[in-house]
Amino acid sequence: CFKAAKEHNIPEDLNKILENKVMETVADLYYINVSVVEMTCLDGADREGIVSKSVSSHSDLIPGVYEGGLKVWECTFDLIDYFAEAEIQFTDKTVLDLGCGAGLLGIVALRGKAEKVHFQDYNSTVIDEITLPNAVANCINGGNRMGSRESRKTSKPPLKRPKKAERLPNLLTKCRFFSGEWSEVTQLLLSSNKPFSKYDIILTSETIYNPDYYSALHDTLAQLLHKNGRVYLASKVHYFGVGGGIYLFEKFIEERNVFSTSIVKIIDKGLQRCIMEMAFKDA
Ligand SMILES: C[S@@+](CC[C@H](N)C(=O)[O-])C[C@H]1O[C@@H](n2cnc3c(N)ncnc32)[C@H](O)[C@@H]1O
Repeated sequence: CFKAAKEHNIPEDLNKILENKVMETVADLYYINVSVVEMTCLDGADREGIVSKSVSSHSDLIPGVYEGGLKVWECTFDLIDYFAEAEIQFTDKTVLDLGCGAGLLGIVALRGKAEKVHFQDYNSTVIDEITLPNAVANCINGGNRMGSRESRKTSKPPLKRPKKAERLPNLLTKCRFFSGEWSEVTQLLLSSNKPFSKYDIILTSETIYNPDYYSALHDTLAQLLHKNGRVYLASKVHYFGVGGGIYLFEKFIEERNVFSTSIVKIIDKGLQRCIMEMAFKDA
């Protein structure tokens, strides 16, 4: 059975979200230390039980249970680098960070002056314990810095707690957070009484490892992307042990005949990775 969709409202007390969290920086973005989150999760903050399941199975992916959102996967940084190189503009755009995990892609879009940024992850624990705190930390601390590979390399000591937030910062009012399986989240968005406009840009990193999910992913992109919108997808060429990869996904998309795809960047270090751009064929 698929994980039902849920919208996570932003709690009023933002300081509480950052309570017991340790902050670091990654790619010039604030980022909650995951080991500390995992410890608090083992103490009961994780109603889904994904941390204990991931620890006991020694796995970052448990299909249908935990889909890897607690840690930041390396293609996220490829995509952040690509935004800078290709000068991708987020100003006034509506953006979805699909399969967001830590949500760093959406946070970069937010800093790039996106009009709205929505975050989606399969697991509600990831949204509550990682994505939302990361968004809050970056919104409170504001700024228009764009992440870059250079700053990621410099290891900085963990930062002091960000300054106190008395009210919802403007940036945070642009954000919404969702958990659940892709088809379920799509239904929730399309059937909600809140106004919904399709996304100008959908960002997605390391989400095509499992071919069983390609159909749901394809249909989600087709239903949620604006007719002139773009998808930027970052992936490893192949996911050993799971079976997915960029060429299998490309073939799947071609057969559906809805989107055109192009590989816009190949990263040839170790296991090859790449960035794919997608647009509607009839756009
Ligand atoms: C490997 S993680 C990558 C996380 C993040 N994008 C990154 O690069 O660090 C894959 C993400 O895709 C999402 N995901 C995978 N399969 C999904 C599905 N069938 N329905 C909804 N979300 C899914 C999960 O929420 C998970 O966070």
